[in-house]
Amino acid sequence: MDIKGQVAIVTGGASGLGEATAIELARLGAKVAIFDVNLEAAKRVAEQTNGIACQCDITNSESVEAALEKATQALGPARILMNVAGIGTAKRIVAKDGSAAPLEEFVRVINVNLIGVYNISRLFAAHCASLIPGEDGQRGVMIFTASVAAFDGQVGQQAYSASKGGLVSMTLPMARDLAQHGIRVCTIAPGLFATPLMKTLPEPVQESLAASIPFPSRLGKPSEFAELACHIVTNNHLNGEVIRLDGALRMAPR
Ligand SMILES: NC(=O)c1ccc[n+]([C@@H]2O[C@H](COP(=O)([O-])OP(=O)(O)OC[C@H]3O[C@@H](n4cnc5c(N)ncnc54)[C@H](O)[C@@H]3O)[C@@H](O)[C@H]2O)c1
Repeated sequence: MDIKGQVAIVTGGASGLGEATAIELARLGAKVAIFDVNLEAAKRVAEQTNGIACQCDITNSESVEAALEKATQALGPARILMNVAGIGTAKRIVAKDGSAAPLEEFVRVINVNLIGVYNISRLFAAHCASLIPGEDGQRGVMIFTASVAAFDGQVGQQAYSASKGGLVSMTLPMARDLAQHGIRVCTIAPGLFATPLMKTLPEPVQESLAASIPFPSRLGKPSEFAELACHIVTNNHLNGEVIRLDGALRMAPR
């Protein structure tokens, strides 16, 4: 799909990998709607990308429907959905004091990273399925952001790994479901990227994380994630696939 002139939604577009994706989409000529719970930060990126900011909690159907309506009114119907919003956590299932991990924490992460992504994807897919198809009978494309933790999750990462593993497992059946509607679905599983979250870690920790990446031995640049996300949009034969973007990193247990 040609990105130029398309309307694209980027969840989590107010920060990190989502922000870089919004900037790259705008550079390639898309009209971008930033869907994020953080409206102030979303507005900052919207200004930079000449797009619009929509306050949106992906776990809440009314919030997603309102944001989709706002984006459609302002920019026209979207054919690209970049699912980048997500949260992280680390909790051992049995804590050092012997107590069991709180269930609420597991539920919270699954709710945002897996159920939230499914929620906006189902509403976007229904919206897209009603559009007139373009080249190759294509109506839309959506991308999930998983993590290498879906495959090699570390100590304490049960909730995060399960949520991202859910996205990996959902990719093919959703691509199969949506084939009849001309909508493609792919997933990127990033390794370690230099986003604001990562930059809050002490310098030595960042350096040791970077050293664990075989080549290139540095954190991924958000722009590299954005380039792959945009390539998936332009390459019509990529569908139902999960792509690791990690410099050959395989994470150790801790
Ligand atoms: N940074 C990395 O190294 C890395 C590695 C692997 C996977 N990922 C995944 O990439 C994605 C982006 O990571 P990042 O480092 O850029 O994070 P980030 O914290 O910089 O950005 C995430 C954005 O998502 C938004 N968000 C959170 N919950 C939301 C919700 N319910 N509805 C709408 N928006 C919500 C936040 O407000 C924030 O703007 C996440 O899904 C993360 O799990 C990141």
